Amino acid sequence: MKTSLRAALGGVMAMVMAGAAAAAEPLKIGLILPMSGPFAAYGKQIENGVRLYLKQNGDSFSGRKVELILKDDTGVAPEISKRAAQELVVKDKVDVLAGFGLTPSAFAVAPIATEAKKPMVVMNAATSAITTKSEYILRTSMTLPQITAPIASWAARNGIRKVFTVVADYGPGHDAETQFKKTFTAAGGEIVGEVRTPMKNPDFSPFLQRIKDAHPQAVFLFVPAGEQGISFMKGFAERDLAKAGIKLIATGDLVDEDVLDAIGDPALGTTNSFHYAEAHKSPENKAYTEAYYKAYPNSRPNFMSVAGYDGMHLIAEALKKTGGNAEGDAFVAAAKGMKWMSPRGPIGIDPVTRDIVQTIYVRKVERVGAKLQNVEFDQVPEFRDPGKP
Ligand code: PHB
Repeated sequence: MKTSLRAALGGVMAMVMAGAAAAAEPLKIGLILPMSGPFAAYGKQIENGVRLYLKQNGDSFSGRKVELILKDDTGVAPEISKRAAQELVVKDKVDVLAGFGLTPSAFAVAPIATEAKKPMVVMNAATSAITTKSEYILRTSMTLPQITAPIASWAARNGIRKVFTVVADYGPGHDAETQFKKTFTAAGGEIVGEVRTPMKNPDFSPFLQRIKDAHPQAVFLFVPAGEQGISFMKGFAERDLAKAGIKLIATGDLVDEDVLDAIGDPALGTTNSFHYAEAHKSPENKAYTEAYYKAYPNSRPNFMSVAGYDGMHLIAEALKKTGGNAEGDAFVAAAKGMKWMSPRGPIGIDPVTRDIVQTIYVRKVERVGAKLQNVEFDQVPEFRDPGKP
């Protein structure tokens, strides 16, 4: 009797200890981001959001100490992203793949997530189809159709009839062009010209001349956030397109807080639609922006940092539901249908598409105090990606 009780107790103890050991396994998150090259700002911003979340919420999720392993994929270099993901899975044995600044990187890694059954949390890349490339993909950023439709509706409602579209010639640009045309023409608008600009070192001058000659009322622009937008806006001003009465409308990538100061006054009045603004008025965003400036005094909080921050929230909350289990199927099942309050407003993960559902705001660049800000004046709540079939 005594022996069997001791044996039974021993068995229980062994089980408890095995459980504790499993719970104490670190949670390895492999972050694949552009940390160098023309899109290095994306990596920095997303990393800032990720680390701020850990700073505020502690660096253990459901008893598992979070270990970040960061790999630089240098921007548009799908082969490098793919190799980084393979290394993270095989060598580092990560539990979760996350990051992804640009679409080609997310597309390249999707098959690896599927094969390894690893959750893949997309923190920027925004071509609609990305989430269809693996059952293990979840997205906390935005999709191009989602951020484009509201500005197309706004234009049609505000007396703009003739638009020239300009988009970067790759996934997100194609999505933006398709959605803009669809929404704008359905509302009675006309597309009077369209161009796709190269992703590598684009020279916008010839395009700007073509636009001027076509006499549109407005240009709709999508280029990946950063240098390209700064250079387009500079050319737009220098070639007197604004003086010719042509308006510039865009997705918010163009006048993202990270580049707004570099564009300066020519950005004033640019109407755009997007999911996050530093100037968004909510208690959550007030807390977020204050904490962000405290942690990173020389950087402005923007949509990329928020997507990194929310991506970490998604991982933390999914693990709470699974009791610390990060295996792909359990993790994704837990993440589907999640809803929470982000600094950007209420957001959620669509249980069917695994894509983000969120409010999209229509904003205008204004001077607020000493700073240029995107000031929200209209919104489309609980907006799902209209790019999904
Ligand atoms: C993308 O490559 O998916 C991408 C990059 C920058 C943006 C939006 C989308 O601003």
